[in-house]
Amino acid sequence: MKELAGKTAVVTGAASGIGRAMADRWAAAGMSVVLADIDQVALDVAVAEVSEVGPAAGLPVDVTVASEVEGLLAFTIDRFDRAHLVCNNAGVAGPPGHAPHELTVEDWQWVLDVDLWGVIHGVRTFVPHLLAHGDGHMINTASQSGLTSGSVISAAYYAAKHAVVALSECQFHDFAARAPGVNVSVLCPGPVATNIMNDEARRPERFQTVPAPVATEHSEAVTAALWDVIASGRPPHEVADIVHDAVINDEFYIYTDPNIIESVAARHRAIEQRGYPTTGRMDADVAGG
Ligand SMILES: NC(=O)c1ccc[n+]([C@@H]2O[C@H](COP(=O)([O-])OP(=O)(O)OC[C@H]3O[C@@H](n4cnc5c(N)ncnc54)[C@H](O)[C@@H]3O)[C@@H](O)[C@H]2O)c1
Repeated sequence: MKELAGKTAVVTGAASGIGRAMADRWAAAGMSVVLADIDQVALDVAVAEVSEVGPAAGLPVDVTVASEVEGLLAFTIDRFDRAHLVCNNAGVAGPPGHAPHELTVEDWQWVLDVDLWGVIHGVRTFVPHLLAHGDGHMINTASQSGLTSGSVISAAYYAAKHAVVALSECQFHDFAARAPGVNVSVLCPGPVATNIMNDEARRPERFQTVPAPVATEHSEAVTAALWDVIASGRPPHEVADIVHDAVINDEFYIYTDPNIIESVAARHRAIEQRGYPTTGRMDADVAGG
């Protein structure tokens, strides 16, 4: 999408971090912006601040609930007539440093429902609208953890993010065949300095494990190291600038950390050579490598 000014962007997870930075970036580009988030307090602040730059509106939305995402489309049409740039971005990391079998059913459901189903609901809801008016771009936020895997972030996160990459690739093929004016990109950031490590504060009650699992020495050590890696990640506004340029230039895979290319290549070499799975850049970062 070469021209952004005068069009409308919709961003989920817009109250914080990468989503908030994208909302700011789209407003600076002259777009109207619809911000959606589960955190109403932070959302209200974000909407007020983005409104100082341009037209903005906010809706509390839990992306795990299909009807709420459908409500987001209706809200967008009501306020701004149509959506053009849709950022399925809301996400959580889940408990770090646990083996896949140690995550509870609620852990798995929470992370998959937000990180994968949140995107699926966005795709099912917004794509027919984009196809109908024919001028759109969808950004699905995955992660470098959607291109590699490892042991430091929750296995549910890796699984969800790999699925978001695959889903986005399927959309690419579909749009290429039928919709020249509609595009899709998958955002695969490396570490970004956001609030994602505070995600437990946004875990809805139905995804709580009762009683809460006891943290292990290992999970506490990994969590502490991951806090440091995230805190020293790229500023979100730099990621938003990268996404902006990718939309203008119609790029599909969007990276924020050039270091991930080698770990992606190593993973693919292992697959080609029938080797053993490699770990991603994040494991090396957490280990201080
Ligand atoms: N920070 C990183 O290092 C990093 C790296 C790669 C990918 N990502 C991805 O970027 C995206 C944004 O994360 P962030 O790092 O900006 O974190 P963040 O915690 O700062 O922002 C995430 C936002 O999503 C919202 N959210 C959580 N659950 C929700 C739900 N059920 N419905 C609606 N909103 C919900 C939160 O309230 C929060 O405002 C996520 O998909 C994340 O997986 C982040």
